[in-house]
Amino acid sequence: MRSQVVIVGGGPSGLLLGQLLHLKGIDTVVLERKTRDYVLRRIRAGILETGLVNMMREAGVAGRMEKECYVHHGTCISYENELFDINFRELIGQNVVVYGQTELTHDLYDARDATGGRTIFEVEGVEIHDADSDAPYVTFTADGRNQRIDCDFVAGCDGFHGVSRQTIPDSVRKEYEKVFPFGWLGILSETPPVHDELIYANSSRGFALCSMRNENLSRYYVQCALTDKIEAWSDEAFWDELKRRIPESVADRLVTGPSIEKSIAPLRSFVSEPMRWGRLFLCGDAAHIVPPTGAKGLNTAASDVHYLNDALVRYYQDKDSHGIETYSEKALSRVWKAERFSWATTNLLHRFPDQTDFDLKMQRAEIQSLHYHETAQTWFAQNYVGLPY
Ligand code: APR
Ligand code: PHB
Repeated sequence: MRSQVVIVGGGPSGLLLGQLLHLKGIDTVVLERKTRDYVLRRIRAGILETGLVNMMREAGVAGRMEKECYVHHGTCISYENELFDINFRELIGQNVVVYGQTELTHDLYDARDATGGRTIFEVEGVEIHDADSDAPYVTFTADGRNQRIDCDFVAGCDGFHGVSRQTIPDSVRKEYEKVFPFGWLGILSETPPVHDELIYANSSRGFALCSMRNENLSRYYVQCALTDKIEAWSDEAFWDELKRRIPESVADRLVTGPSIEKSIAPLRSFVSEPMRWGRLFLCGDAAHIVPPTGAKGLNTAASDVHYLNDALVRYYQDKDSHGIETYSEKALSRVWKAERFSWATTNLLHRFPDQTDFDLKMQRAEIQSLHYHETAQTWFAQNYVGLPY
């Protein structure tokens, strides 16, 4: 089998790249470890930067999103009983779109079906060979058969636990990591959102987040210990704790209900450099992870895809390798800005076990600076809606 670009990973990164390349007549094969249903059962954040919204439109897969999404002109931050809004539209004339990542992935799979693009599910033992040569190839097992695809390029879109990043030799790769000393306990409930925008809450008991998927599907999180187990958190215990962490006026109108999904996720910052080795390019979670506080995971994967799509199209259409040569440097420049915003908002809004009284005073002073100073709010707004590609 042969393809111009083999895409390892059928998540948002791989599918969006495949769709954009297809529109330019570039052939791809997507190799996905799981089943399509498994991929589509993942519950992930759905705050889309303008850049990603525009890419979905460019890819011709924005139809359902345009009908069902919510446009948010700002977001709210609370600390104890104080609640304030950071109005993106007033500050910088921009907004974000709320549209579940699950829905976005579904739309991308539907689009791939329509193009007839080859997607091989339940692949095992993917190995990337000769990435540092002009003739890379990928081997794997599927349908009980050992298979090989010869290609021009490999896009490693296989997430944090994939094989692509490990294909880059240790002598070439440098990894940066910060593991946060807490997790997020999240629930999904078929209840109306408590507010018309998201609320990021800093409280003496820890962080909380009030988010949503649609007018009757809400997503809530509370900061929890890394040792916490889901079984120890009844729905009632979750709702009681959430109410303690948000302003009373908000807690009073919170509509609770049974959780239809409950999970605990760790928080880490992670970057692997470089994002290119020969003819292998890393995209998305394969190269970097952010704590979810800044809603940058999917959006930073999108900017990687933007740069790589541009680079490959320039190569095939203009025989111009400049984009390929500069992909890693360009992608990492924006990745580190997203890492910084995610790290800063995580430090601003969470309680850390080793925080001193002085640290807490600094945290409160920074939140109040965000509350009362337009320059601080503008910095937050520019980063939250997404820095330019
Ligand atoms: N072979 C084939 N597929 C693989 C392999 C492998 N060895 N390892 C992982 N995969 C698949 C996973 O099953 C998953 O479907 O690669 C896909 C990677 O998708 P994501 O982890 O979603 O990563 P990405 O596409 O970069 O999307 C980034 O999605 O996961 C969220 O928080 C993340 O919002 C971010 C965004
Ligand atoms: C979510 O809705 O799951 C969500 C929203 C914003 C975040 C993180 C998660 O920063």
